[in-house]
Amino acid sequence: MPYWSRRNGAPPGNRLSWRVSIVDDEATVAVRIADRPLHRREYRRASVPGSVHPPLAAAMVRLAAPRPGAVLLDPCCGSGTIPIESLAVQDVFAIGTDIDPATVAVARGNDPAGRVRWAVADAGRPPLREVDVIASNPPWDRQVVTRETLVPQRFSARKVVLLLPEGVDLGGERRQVSLFGQRPVITVLER
Ligand SMILES: C[S@@+](CC[C@H](N)C(=O)[O-])C[C@H]1O[C@@H](n2cnc3c(N)ncnc32)[C@H](O)[C@@H]1O
Repeated sequence: MPYWSRRNGAPPGNRLSWRVSIVDDEATVAVRIADRPLHRREYRRASVPGSVHPPLAAAMVRLAAPRPGAVLLDPCCGSGTIPIESLAVQDVFAIGTDIDPATVAVARGNDPAGRVRWAVADAGRPPLREVDVIASNPPWDRQVVTRETLVPQRFSARKVVLLLPEGVDLGGERRQVSLFGQRPVITVLER
């Protein structure tokens, strides 16, 4: 079958789009059922260095499993992907904070209806003492540097869901998810 690159314009219409990925001894074959790739979210107008892939953020929210009415905080929210994805859960009260004001402005731009509460804050000094769930991919001084302090004092959350770099083990449950050829690991810590 011919390969139609989308780099040089749209592929011809009325065709099924297939995607094949082969990693080690595992092959995945998928057919696109929507007009545009489902991983491309309409809300995402801009991203920042280290922005998480939206389907991975959605998987983190699923593992966080916030109950309706729960307060979910991403204290290093970047462009806001995780709090915005959490809005798929009915009645979740989503909060995104980041130390960098320009980054918080990007997150606000991705949420023009203002459904998430955004604020500039150091993760070490969060605006709240307690939330139900923390879901975050914090900086690990690789792609994004850590500023001030990441670990808050006198703070509690029932569940903490994190993306950690390889080799960092904070205990808890390590859940591998399958995202079309990639197998990122999500850490789930529960109190
Ligand atoms: C890996 S990025 C998060 C990306 C985000 N999940 C997204 O999808 O765009 C890490 C973020 O942590 C922020 N950061 C660094 N040090 C921080 C601190 N002490 N408190 C809060 N945020 C911090 C950076 O500004 C950066 O936006």
